[in-house]
Amino acid sequence: MDYTKIFFIIFFLIILLFLLIFNLKNLIIIRSNFKHRIAWEKCKQLKISIPMDKRKNSFELEKILEIKLKKVLDKINSGSIFLIQNNSDPVSIFMRLGITGRFSHSAIILKPNFFNESGKKPLLWQAAGEKIGTKNSGPDIHSFCAFLSEYMTRYPNCRYAIRNLSQPLNPSQSFSLHDFIISTIKQKKFVFVSNFEMFWCFYTETLFRFLLPLDPYMKISNKNELTFCSKLITETYQHIGLVDNNVNSFATTPNYFSFPNSNHFLINETEIIFTP
Ligand SMILES: *[C@@H]1O[C@H](CO)[C@@H](O)[C@H](O)[C@H]1NC(C)=O
Ligand SMILES: *[C@@H]1O[C@H](CO)[C@@H](O)[C@H](O)[C@H]1NC(C)=O
Ligand SMILES: *[C@@H]1O[C@H](CO)[C@@H](O)[C@H](O)[C@H]1NC(C)=O
Ligand SMILES: *[C@@H]1O[C@H](CO)[C@@H](O)[C@H](O)[C@H]1NC(C)=O
Repeated sequence: MDYTKIFFIIFFLIILLFLLIFNLKNLIIIRSNFKHRIAWEKCKQLKISIPMDKRKNSFELEKILEIKLKKVLDKINSGSIFLIQNNSDPVSIFMRLGITGRFSHSAIILKPNFFNESGKKPLLWQAAGEKIGTKNSGPDIHSFCAFLSEYMTRYPNCRYAIRNLSQPLNPSQSFSLHDFIISTIKQKKFVFVSNFEMFWCFYTETLFRFLLPLDPYMKISNKNELTFCSKLITETYQHIGLVDNNVNSFATTPNYFSFPNSNHFLINETEIIFTP
């Protein structure tokens, strides 16, 4: 028996395992991008050049984004979707592995004058886990460029896409959206899920429904006050009649709004690529 050979094989396997664990994050990103390459290839690409040294300060970056994105955002219909692939956060990355989708965040874009004529900046209606600015993490309105600039400085290497509504909202949908946003913010009812709550709620509402009766034991008693990005977006679209009321908002992910899903009210994605 040649022990040196066995030793080398075990040594080699340990190194391999080490490399695998160490690079798991990158492997998942590569796997996910490979698996979804067709969807990415179908994206129109919008390249925006922002030198690396201008991406360090979020205030400076915000001003640049405001100028560079103005043309696109001016043309987008209020109610369109903004999608983020979070490549910085292990939880988001593993979540993407679990849900096998491309995106980890979704938000609704509102044109500058959506609320009143004096509005100057495009906005996002969203439940964002990160408390960016002084805003809370429940459903809230953020300036699109302020949020994006914070996001880009905090979490580099993310991918971004926008998806236009196929038709502008009609006046009654627009009013209804307006109303829904204002009343949801005023209510202050919803809180953003913790990672465990997100995991638990998503899987018990999809694959493991038989575990639902365990909710109280998992301290998920305030379930009707929990929210997360895609749940809020689903409920918003349900309110204005774009998503069927039978859809379980707890069981949706940001990918519910990405190509090729929801094609009946959203058109093709445009990926925004920030080049140096
Ligand atoms: C969306 O993409 C598909 C496939 O790439 C293409 O056939 C179609 O014309 C596109 N639609 C629009 C509205 O750009
Ligand atoms: C993105 O990653 C950061 C941590 O790097 C995390 O705090 C945040 O919640 C993630 N955002 C989304 C929307 O997944
Ligand atoms: C107009 O809308 C903006 C948000 O776009 C809000 O901050 C501002 O308070 C509103 N002004 C009035 C007069 O309602
Ligand atoms: C979004 O759709 C509207 C029509 O509904 C169109 O006028 C506008 O150019 C589109 N914007 C983009 C960026 O595709």
